[in-house]
Amino acid sequence: MTRVFNRMTAKLPPVAVRAEGLHIWDSSGKSYIDACGGAAVSCLGHGHPKVMEAMDRQVRKLDYVHPGFFSAEPAEHLADLLMEDAPAGISHVYFVSGGSEAMEAALKMARQYFLEIGQPKRSKFISRRQSYHGNTLGALSVGGNLARREPYAPMLMDVSLIAPCFAYHFKRDDETEEQYGRRVADELEAEILRLGPETVAGFTAETVVGATTGCVPPVKGYFKRIREICDKYGVLLILDEVMSGMGRTGTMHACEQDGIAPDLMTIAKGMGGGFQAIGAVLVGKKVHDPITNGSGLFMHGHTYMAHPVACAAGIAVVKTIKEEGLVERVRVQGAKLRQRMEARFGNHPHVGDVRGRGLFQAIELVEDRGTKEAFDPKLMLHDRIKVECMERGLLAYPMPGTIDGKRGNHMILAPPYIVTDADIDTIVDRLGDSVDAALAKLPGK
Ligand SMILES: Cc1ncc(COP(=O)(O)O)c(C=O)c1O
Repeated sequence: MTRVFNRMTAKLPPVAVRAEGLHIWDSSGKSYIDACGGAAVSCLGHGHPKVMEAMDRQVRKLDYVHPGFFSAEPAEHLADLLMEDAPAGISHVYFVSGGSEAMEAALKMARQYFLEIGQPKRSKFISRRQSYHGNTLGALSVGGNLARREPYAPMLMDVSLIAPCFAYHFKRDDETEEQYGRRVADELEAEILRLGPETVAGFTAETVVGATTGCVPPVKGYFKRIREICDKYGVLLILDEVMSGMGRTGTMHACEQDGIAPDLMTIAKGMGGGFQAIGAVLVGKKVHDPITNGSGLFMHGHTYMAHPVACAAGIAVVKTIKEEGLVERVRVQGAKLRQRMEARFGNHPHVGDVRGRGLFQAIELVEDRGTKEAFDPKLMLHDRIKVECMERGLLAYPMPGTIDGKRGNHMILAPPYIVTDADIDTIVDRLGDSVDAALAKLPGK
């Protein structure tokens, strides 16, 4: 009997009681290796002493102030720290409590910017199919995760969804990766022209697509072309690095590897490392100044934005990432993880693709490697693998609907940046055993 309205109401999850490093223990004493950091959240592992000390110091000094009355030192300090390696043009940080709130703020910021500069017709957003930007209504509207959208479709904003950049499934055999990237990026231009450029406010995209398709990086040149199109039509480029940012892919921001900078960028999970609920919009003078010099008030906000304890945790997390060279470590350990996954799954008859960047890697399950056809969605293969993983003491992030929101299954690994070589071996062994066990138990096998 529980009085908690859990996310999974029918099948209650175990109760977690303790966590340290890569390990979580439940109330029965069973331990799990957290190989996905929850949802790519716990970048430093659990129970990091420097973060706990920072939060303790802060809550004793200044626990809370409302953003309508005060700014506070932790927010100022964290914004300065984030500026040190922010993408070109970024000058300010708007702090909120998570990824969805960050996306809501970014959408409204884009809209208010166009009001301030005298382009009031610009209110439309373009996004991509097979993407996720959060579960609040605005963020859900610009997302392309069909299952999460479907029940709420009548309540969502009208947003254009163009093709994702997903070469494994959608690149034609007669085109190079660059040609494919150009073709799907050009869908943005076609859609802007169809809507009328004077009505379009922004284009949103995850730099590396996370949960919905399973760690899909863009092909070379894709975002350069997207940037060009946005600039040509005065449309703001809003990159969502809630999952893929803050070192996860081997650079502080994933877009560094694509050679572009966004107008607005959302970050969250890896910034708080799971120690506190925090997210942010990184924004440049281009958007900030017209609001400051115009109405002087961003018409949006939340009670807990720029919370001092959340920002203190963020400072400790970001400082630890920088001072301990963890972004470099992600590159090194990410390459090892990828190598081990390729060794284990590269010839697996039911793993079609191993992909990702840094410590953000996934496998896609297929019925047939040749045709890339998925298993029957009714089998819920991802869920069966999750169950087998948990039995073996492993947490890996499962998702269905990889290809089009209905067909396909994938599993994501996003371990903390402190993951060791021995941890990587254990994680891949347990995932491999779980995949094989789930497949062996499919009906008819
Ligand atoms: C890319 C991306 N954007 C936004 C969100 C929403 O973040 P939150 O769950 O913190 O609201 C998520 C969450 O998984 C995400 O992966």
